[in-house]
Amino acid sequence: MSVKLGVNIDHVATVRQARCAGYPEITEAADAAIKGGADGITVHLREDRRHIQDEDLYRLKQLISVPLNLEMAPTEEMLTIAQEIMPTYCCLVPEKRHELTTEGGLDVVNQVGTLRPYCQALADVGIQVSLFIDVSIASIDAAIVIGVPIIELHTGIYADSKAESKNEALQHIIDAAAYAQDQGLIVNAGHGLTLENVKPIATIKGMNELNIGHSIVARALMVGMQGAVAEMKVAIDTP
Ligand code: PXP
Repeated sequence: MSVKLGVNIDHVATVRQARCAGYPEITEAADAAIKGGADGITVHLREDRRHIQDEDLYRLKQLISVPLNLEMAPTEEMLTIAQEIMPTYCCLVPEKRHELTTEGGLDVVNQVGTLRPYCQALADVGIQVSLFIDVSIASIDAAIVIGVPIIELHTGIYADSKAESKNEALQHIIDAAAYAQDQGLIVNAGHGLTLENVKPIATIKGMNELNIGHSIVARALMVGMQGAVAEMKVAIDTP
């Protein structure tokens, strides 16, 4: 089975919010991504609402034909919103107000007690929960203790590493994915993936889904959203 592609369209909203304009239309971007082959649409509702707005979630949930994956910080406010929107998936992520993007995975090791009730509350209403974690066995073990069915491995170190350390970073992800799958977890991955670096991650055995945003939206400026997603699908699927 081929690896699924979740397209993160946050930065379509970034362009809109730069002018607080009514365009580009987020649902149109989602539609084009789906036409290009997106298996899911991912959005991150940040506490500061710098890109995606609450209203976007309602419209996307109503209009898109593929699963919606809502990335969010584990807070009471976000939990209430998720319970109202009812996305197919919720991916819990750490959030710092001044970061440009999600810099690392959740500190699951030290937050088992904090995260568990959020995961349970989401699961109770039928949302499939995943935890965005660093590539470490300790984090995977903590995710198992918390009891989620899915993890998303943070590929940022791999994406940012120079040629001489890339293979080592890749090997860590391969080993972590195998360990997590052996424990019965579904393994996704994402962050910093591009047309150039996606293939080794896409060919990791049993990889379920890749969530890719910034590079696709950037490429969409040149070739359109549908074309940018189609290119990424080819990069993922070509043997
Ligand atoms: N997965 C998660 C959990 C993220 O927080 C992000 C960034 O919002 C991504 C994937 C996508 O990362 P990028 O925009 O670098 O492709």
